[in-house]
Amino acid sequence: MQFMDRTEAKNRIEELRRTLEENSRRYYVDNAPVISDFEFDSLMHELERLEAEYPEFDAPDSPTHKVGSDLDAPAGGNAEPLARTGFVQRPHRYPMLSLGNTYSISEIEDFTARAEKTLDGARFSYSCELKFDGTAICLTYRGGRLVQALTRGDGVYGDDVTENAMRIGNIPRQLHGDYPAEFEIRGEILMPYEAFDALNREREDNEDPPFANPRNAASGSLKLADPEEVAHRGLICTLYHIPAESVTFGSHWEALDAAASWGLPVSDKRRLCHGISEIREYIDYWDRQRKFLPFATDGIVIKINELDCQRTLGYTAKFPRWAVAFKFKAEQACTRLLSIDYQVGRTGAITPVANLEPVQLSGTVVRRATLNNADVMAGLDIRDGDWVFVEKGGEIIPKITGVDMSRREAGAQRPEFPSVCPDCGTPLVRSEDEARWFCPNGDGCPMQIKGRLLHFMSRRAMDILAGEVTVEQLYDRGLARRPSDLYSLNKWQLTSLDGWKDRSAQRFLDSLEASKKVPFERVLFAMGIRYVGEATAKGIARHFGSIDAIAAAGMEELLKVDDVGEVIAASVYDFMRDPVQLEEISRLKAAGLRFSAESPRTAMSAALEGRTIVISGTFSISREAMKELIAAHGGKAGSSVSGKTAFLLAGSKPGPEKLKQCEKLGVPVISEEEFMKMLPSGNQGAGDVTELSLF
Ligand code: IVH
Repeated sequence: MQFMDRTEAKNRIEELRRTLEENSRRYYVDNAPVISDFEFDSLMHELERLEAEYPEFDAPDSPTHKVGSDLDAPAGGNAEPLARTGFVQRPHRYPMLSLGNTYSISEIEDFTARAEKTLDGARFSYSCELKFDGTAICLTYRGGRLVQALTRGDGVYGDDVTENAMRIGNIPRQLHGDYPAEFEIRGEILMPYEAFDALNREREDNEDPPFANPRNAASGSLKLADPEEVAHRGLICTLYHIPAESVTFGSHWEALDAAASWGLPVSDKRRLCHGISEIREYIDYWDRQRKFLPFATDGIVIKINELDCQRTLGYTAKFPRWAVAFKFKAEQACTRLLSIDYQVGRTGAITPVANLEPVQLSGTVVRRATLNNADVMAGLDIRDGDWVFVEKGGEIIPKITGVDMSRREAGAQRPEFPSVCPDCGTPLVRSEDEARWFCPNGDGCPMQIKGRLLHFMSRRAMDILAGEVTVEQLYDRGLARRPSDLYSLNKWQLTSLDGWKDRSAQRFLDSLEASKKVPFERVLFAMGIRYVGEATAKGIARHFGSIDAIAAAGMEELLKVDDVGEVIAASVYDFMRDPVQLEEISRLKAAGLRFSAESPRTAMSAALEGRTIVISGTFSISREAMKELIAAHGGKAGSSVSGKTAFLLAGSKPGPEKLKQCEKLGVPVISEEEFMKMLPSGNQGAGDVTELSLF
């Protein structure tokens, strides 16, 4: 890092901001994180360091200056099928901030030293508490009655989830005792492990994707549309903060004790500490004991207890200066490797997945863990029967992070990475720049075909009501090989499948019908283009506005899309030139799927303004794409050659009648190459649409 020059620092800052924004959205909005908290926090700390070192690149909207937002969960974008969007958003009376965090005890020492220095001889103590790993809530009581519950939202506005909060068992609707006329109290909504396991079992039975962890489950459940359903989710609440502005207590501790006396749920695991050694003891104790708690915690929060001291220390834009979180490293477990499965993904990538002797980890039983790829396996030097360390990251499936060499049995064999596809037997391939092996039999490998169907139907893509079992059935009966096959299924075919009734078939058909309204960017994601994830699909869809414009785009235009580099651009470019994919696109178009954005496209240029152009023959892009390109540059595509035709655009094998007509009327005939040169950027120019399109 110290050898970084200014340009490198600027690029890295931008990259970190993009990554953090993306992962913050996955965490707070989608409830489906893909990186661990530790990875996220490390990236955030790196950005903080760089912004401090290069203040000229600091920006007020950097993720280092704002709290993650849970607002704006898109329909179907949540791992929760019954989630509601469009909660009324209301302002917080006092901003709901986050906490500065660290994984290092020496930074906690720095925190206490700083506080002592600033408070300059004042007597104060520390309230040490568990850091509950759920989703934040802010409750307002007026006249002892619960009148409002807001999520943290973006810290300034939160979603009004009052109806749902009222259904959480330990949140009292009415207080007792000597409560203030009106006050706010903040805390966390948690889903205990037991409720979490039961919910995930139910979801798997219903072919819904399971939640990655109890935090995501709590957050998804709090945003359910039906408050009665919330009541059945087993959520609990624990409250840990009354904004000092809203009460008149002398200390945080007193405020929480008072809240408990009014009937509010306050943790009894807090401890009043008087210096760093007591804080250390508290941290060490809970680092060992937290695995016995019935809910998830991810650290310890240390708060200056006296409210006048808190006022002296104040706030940064994002954190209070009077509190800090010490976060625990992800828990590890050690267990035995039983065997390795080699899974074939929808792109043909082979992922080794370890089957393990079941072991308890962070409140759940782990049976499988990913080994990522052949390089990772080689790096770990893993052998059959080894004792391995497992950790949970952001994803559902934990990963193997090491091998306990001291327990390796003599002569343990190195597992052999397969040389042929475990599903279809095709020899595997691996290019130099790839860490993974691939099965190249994309069109014939059953796992890949089923994987693509599953991806196409998934909630974040076309949101069709089906899971693995349905895909298996449709595939086995030869009813679906590619996504377009789904749209010609009928009720009779569906009810002939095992376990299907008239009602389930109708539900499935209805969801297929509804998928025709799925916006273009999700359709593009559903197509399963390699390296094109949700965010990239959105970027490309918004940039080009239609599949035809994407198909018409050259590498240069594709590279103009934000965050699209050589690898993604080449993948899109090749996809759009693969006859099998082009045929599939036309079939899906015919089925009525959305292949263009709804908003009207703005012209890319006026190069063809007022000119009628007739096209004939075949081109490097579809005829439809060519017509759209003409329109985008202000021209009009005509069907027959007349005196008004500006020119005939001739591809290969143009119609002889049209050529004859041109000769007769003196209408120029130009090739595709000449035509492209007439457009502003010397080619299709579809990339120019960014500034002009009105999304
Ligand atoms: S105090 C002004 N106490 O952790 C700060 N927060 O990562 C008020 N959290 O936003 C928060 N346990 O959602 C506080 N005992 C605890 C907590 C706690 C969990 C959450 C809270 C906060 C987040 C920061």
